[in-house]
Amino acid sequence: MVATTLERPTPVAPVGAAAKAAGARLTVEAVSHAFDIRGTALPVLDRVSLDVAPGGFVALLGPSGCGKSTLLRLVAGLEPPDAGRITIDGAQVAGPDPSRLLVFQDPTLYPWRTVRGNVMLGLEARGIAGPARAARAEAALRLVGLDGFSEVFPHQLSGGMAQRAALARALVNAPRLLLLDEPLGKLDALTRLSLQAEILRLWQETRFTALLVTHDVEEALVLAERVIVLSDRPAAIRADIRVARPYPRHRDDPELVRLRRSILDSLGQPI
Ligand SMILES: Nc1ncnc2c1ncn2[C@@H]1O[C@H](COP(=O)(O)OP(=O)(O)O)[C@@H](O)[C@H]1O
Ligand SMILES: [Mg+2]
Repeated sequence: MVATTLERPTPVAPVGAAAKAAGARLTVEAVSHAFDIRGTALPVLDRVSLDVAPGGFVALLGPSGCGKSTLLRLVAGLEPPDAGRITIDGAQVAGPDPSRLLVFQDPTLYPWRTVRGNVMLGLEARGIAGPARAARAEAALRLVGLDGFSEVFPHQLSGGMAQRAALARALVNAPRLLLLDEPLGKLDALTRLSLQAEILRLWQETRFTALLVTHDVEEALVLAERVIVLSDRPAAIRADIRVARPYPRHRDDPELVRLRRSILDSLGQPI
């Protein structure tokens, strides 16, 4: 009888179960990168090395234009680094992969597709059959608290809901590494707080590895286990700070306030 259960085919894992697979280990080894601006090299990353444990949550902070998004794009496999190596569980990143997904500040939902239609996009591209696709999309929408909004079009969503839909669109693929590029940057302060709690809950429930770029020091400290501070362009690692505080965290926690001061200090900002 046990054998029957074990042998039952599971062609597509439901999003919750699939996402429970351990997060990936990310290793960035001495990565340098430059862009060509009309024949002149613009160095953007300078020998950046970084190791993120499976299921870890690391935040990247740094001055605007220092190379944070570039680093995330290289990790996502959208372009290869000029020098150095990026590996996921020891295998070199050679291109984009649904196990490694980027979520941007702008949710970029297709206006002509419903919320469910947007969430199903990646599954369609991977040739996953219709009914399984819809079921997984619904599960992902439930995960982000958008159940009941599947049939709605993007223009009918608030900014926070659109960003939840963008998170669902990534999570439906059960990524082992989620790359978050200022995902809450355009939201109002209250929506930001609720989405921060949401991201924390999603990470705790599904245990993907998270790499979050943010310009909000408090956001980094409330969410991440480690905060990495980057220098001005070309970005080099200036500080790597462990945030050894239990979750859920409160931004007024004296230890977080102390860390905030030292991070702002290393960013060269007045406190
Ligand atoms: N595709 C590109 N071509 C040329 N320059 C680029 C390109 N992408 C980014 N840059 C430049 O690289 C620098 C770092 O950009 P980015 O990684 O987006 O910074 P951040 O995300 O830290 O604000 C900026 O000066 C930007 O203008
Ligand atoms: Mg950026």
